[in-house]
Amino acid sequence: MKLDLNSYKDSQLRRRINALMARRKIKSYEAYFQIISRDRQAFNDFVDYLTINVTEFFRDVKAFHYLEHHVFPELLAVKPLLKIWSAACSNGAEPYSVAIILNELTPGRGHRIEATDLDSNVLQIAERGEYPAELLRNLSPARRERYFRAENGRYVLCSEIKKRVKFRRHDLLADPYGQGYDLIICRNVQIYFTKEAQWRVNSRFSQALRPGGVLFLGASETIFNATELGLERIANSFYRRVPAPVRTKASRGEVG
Ligand SMILES: C[S@@+](CC[C@H](N)C(=O)[O-])C[C@H]1O[C@@H](n2cnc3c(N)ncnc32)[C@H](O)[C@@H]1O
Repeated sequence: MKLDLNSYKDSQLRRRINALMARRKIKSYEAYFQIISRDRQAFNDFVDYLTINVTEFFRDVKAFHYLEHHVFPELLAVKPLLKIWSAACSNGAEPYSVAIILNELTPGRGHRIEATDLDSNVLQIAERGEYPAELLRNLSPARRERYFRAENGRYVLCSEIKKRVKFRRHDLLADPYGQGYDLIICRNVQIYFTKEAQWRVNSRFSQALRPGGVLFLGASETIFNATELGLERIANSFYRRVPAPVRTKASRGEVG
């Protein structure tokens, strides 16, 4: 497996690699490079440490409120079954929050929710669907009661929601993107990318959305040149792929 470290911001990367090497008592970058090139487990530990996995259910309550009350009603008015991608989903709290909202807006409907991350360790946690209480602090008591079962101090997500999300490993900087998404959620990962990498990733997201589809970013993530990417800002953190112009007979130069 390859990892494109050039696309991550230098200062943060260096700080974390130095801390990891100090912890393992490794003296030089060369020595560390040799270790992770040879040893798969050491490489996985490296990726695990480098990727900051902080997340929680309904992280950023205001943005999720906007998603539930504005974005989903608009998308569902156009298509009854949505195709959604939660990219860099960490341990699954984000795509499961989306599955909970859709379960309430459209009970029983089989939307397609894909969720991906670079880090295989967090994907395993996502598949298990067991979380500590602090990740549920933004859930109403009613939702906590309805969707989780307390077990040995942890909260186990019900299978009704778990089965709605399909997880797989995917590197935003190296792997191909899908197409025709109604909604792409990519929150709190691009802050670690260089400006060039952010541009590439957002440009590929724009192409992966259907016209009229929506991109949902983190609270501090802004696309300055959105129109150049075929996106328009609809609210803080939300961008819409500019719908294709309606092709009338007149615009095609046809008469009658
Ligand atoms: C801070 S978490 C964000 C989780 C969630 N989106 C949220 O906002 O709560 C960042 C995630 O990005 C993932 N990540 C880092 N680099 C990535 C890459 N190149 N491709 C895919 N995921 C990546 C990390 O493994 C981590 O799980």
